[in-house]
Amino acid sequence: MGLKGELGFIGGGKMGEALLKGLLKAKVVRAEQVCVFDASAGCLEHLKETYGINVCRSNQELVTRSDVIILAVKPQVMAAVLDEIRPGMTAKHLVISIAAGIPLRYLEGRLPEKIRIIRVMPNTPALIGEGATALARGRYASIKDLQLAEQVFSAVGRTVIVEEKYLDAVTGLSGSGPAYVFAIMEAFIDAGVRMGLSREVARVLTLQTVLGSVKLAMETGEHLGCLKEMVTSPGGTTIAGLHVMARAGFNGILMDTVEAATRRSQELREEVLKS
Ligand SMILES: NC(=O)c1ccc[n+]([C@@H]2O[C@H](COP(=O)([O-])OP(=O)(O)OC[C@H]3O[C@@H](n4cnc5c(N)ncnc54)[C@H](OP(=O)(O)O)[C@@H]3O)[C@@H](O)[C@H]2O)c1
Repeated sequence: MGLKGELGFIGGGKMGEALLKGLLKAKVVRAEQVCVFDASAGCLEHLKETYGINVCRSNQELVTRSDVIILAVKPQVMAAVLDEIRPGMTAKHLVISIAAGIPLRYLEGRLPEKIRIIRVMPNTPALIGEGATALARGRYASIKDLQLAEQVFSAVGRTVIVEEKYLDAVTGLSGSGPAYVFAIMEAFIDAGVRMGLSREVARVLTLQTVLGSVKLAMETGEHLGCLKEMVTSPGGTTIAGLHVMARAGFNGILMDTVEAATRRSQELREEVLKS
């Protein structure tokens, strides 16, 4: 089902463009329904030429034209953007913010009273339509608003709905997660090279092993422990490797990793609220 009304993007950078592309591809919106304003004229020209969407001359113009507004600017410029759009905001608007670490309380405090806001945390695989996005509802947003936002982000991957208090953990797990997965894959490739494989062969084997394992888990829906057992014969090679991981405290390392990122997200949020 298509989205009704006009959709405006404030910021058409990496995430803004990824979303736009996904929405057009999934036919959630038509190009004529979309307008974008970005501080970079080059970016606007590129988006207009590539996708045939409308471009605005300012954030104020965008607010007048749009029903749903996606805030896709960096957190550092959010205060200035909110100041610019505040005067034009009315009860018709739904605001969706993807800015990492900017709390609903902060957004609600800087926009007129009772504006409906949804805060979301996507991740970089959204750039190829395989994102993992968590959505949290502001105090004035309805379930219908949440469903609309979910429809938008389903165009670039999987979505989950959480209470805002869990968004720091989401940031620590799926927001930062791609970096951890890439680091693990790099380590696997080095490990293959250490055992005498060429880097190219090690890369193909590593990436396909991760992709295949993810697909196997998703398509079978099997418990991960059962899938692990399928590869682990008594006294065999895999259990020898798993023994090393267990002895090194691999699970604990990953738990500490996600905890550190979650704590850092909490700290950054506190700094935003103090500013
Ligand atoms: N990339 C990720 O993995 C990821 C994941 C989760 C959440 N996010 C969030 O997504 C948001 C956007 O990130 P991004 O990676 O897409 O950043 P980006 O590529 O830098 O895009 C932001 C765009 O906003 C433009 N801009 C700056 N000031 C503006 C203003 N006042 N009005 C309108 N546009 C303005 C920038 O133009 P200039 O370049 O000329 O300044 C840039 O084109 C951030 O808040 C980030 O926290 C990103």
